[in-house]
Amino acid sequence: MIVLGIETSCDETGVALVEDGGADGSRRIVSERLFSQLEAHAAYGGVVPEIAARAHVEKLDRLIEAVMDEAGLDFPGLDGIAVTAGPGLIGGLIVGLVTAKAIAAVHGLPFVAVNHLEAHALTARLTDGVAFPYLLLLVSGGHAQLLDVRGVGRYRRLGATIDDAVGEAFDKVAKMLGLGYPGGPAVERAAVGGDATRFALPRPMCQRPGCDFSFSGLKTAVRQAILDLGAEATQPRTVADLCASFQEAVADCLVDRTRHALVAHPNRRRLVVAGGVAANAVIGARLRALADGAGVTLSVPPARLCTDNGVMVAWAGIERLRTGLIDGLDAPARARWPLDAAAEPLPGAGVKA
Ligand code: KG4
Ligand code: ZN
Repeated sequence: MIVLGIETSCDETGVALVEDGGADGSRRIVSERLFSQLEAHAAYGGVVPEIAARAHVEKLDRLIEAVMDEAGLDFPGLDGIAVTAGPGLIGGLIVGLVTAKAIAAVHGLPFVAVNHLEAHALTARLTDGVAFPYLLLLVSGGHAQLLDVRGVGRYRRLGATIDDAVGEAFDKVAKMLGLGYPGGPAVERAAVGGDATRFALPRPMCQRPGCDFSFSGLKTAVRQAILDLGAEATQPRTVADLCASFQEAVADCLVDRTRHALVAHPNRRRLVVAGGVAANAVIGARLRALADGAGVTLSVPPARLCTDNGVMVAWAGIERLRTGLIDGLDAPARARWPLDAAAEPLPGAGVKA
């Protein structure tokens, strides 16, 4: 089975062909293209929805052509088309959906409307062959969630952020320190060699029961520290210490909340970390130590598949098609789309994935 995947929910135009050999368990990325719009948004310190949608329109067709050419395939040779239908920025989602629907309609191909969070959630099954069930820590620019993943389409939310997403907190701290966008990699780089104990920053929600997160107070504490420091806040040594202290506080929060999830679900022996923040090596090491201590196996997909990409969407399409889940060509773009429909709505979440 070969499926074309298209991702346009935020600021990456991602296209890929993924093949699943079926019974023998062989699966591979046939071809992939990713166009990052970073430069287009950098001057604004965040993603501008209108600019994002236009950039997707400009790039998408050629990226699709490129992955098809590289694979030596034409559309009738595909077994399906999968596209991110939400959650995300509505303009970009519509660009991807219209394109995917047109190809599916013209060539009579099965069409799959993929939840972006599900695509992140299932990536470790492509890269590491992870079996259901598993606990998932989803940490991206739009989310901080812990989920119990029981099967394709079967997710239970154990906890989520009550305010900011974790990647968003990285991005805002980077902006305050003038480190550029996206903030996560910039903060991680700046933190190298910094003293993580120099600034006593809060660990919101830590020690509380449950698995919910909060990052807004931590971000505010960083802002206050910068104000208190005055001119000194721009010195490289201080920037490094601030970034290291912030990153350590985030890591403490993620570890504390994930520990609660592991304790509450002792029969889950696998922890998967997904989303852009999973690319952070310091956070990754802390989560690995947690998993090792709990005797749980940790899976973190390679960094390029943790951030947004077309591969994860193609793979989610394969998983859904194998489960017999096909969508109609009337599937809408959804700015918000919780993975666990039974869970309480999230405050302001889902706008960015
Ligand atoms: O999953 P993703 O590519 O897009 C969303 O669906 O949101 O995640 C992007 C987010 C951004 O907020 C970015 O700053 C963060 O992931 N990020 C990182 C790192 N790399 C990306 N955060 C911390 N450390 C990193 N190395
Ligand atoms: Zn994402």
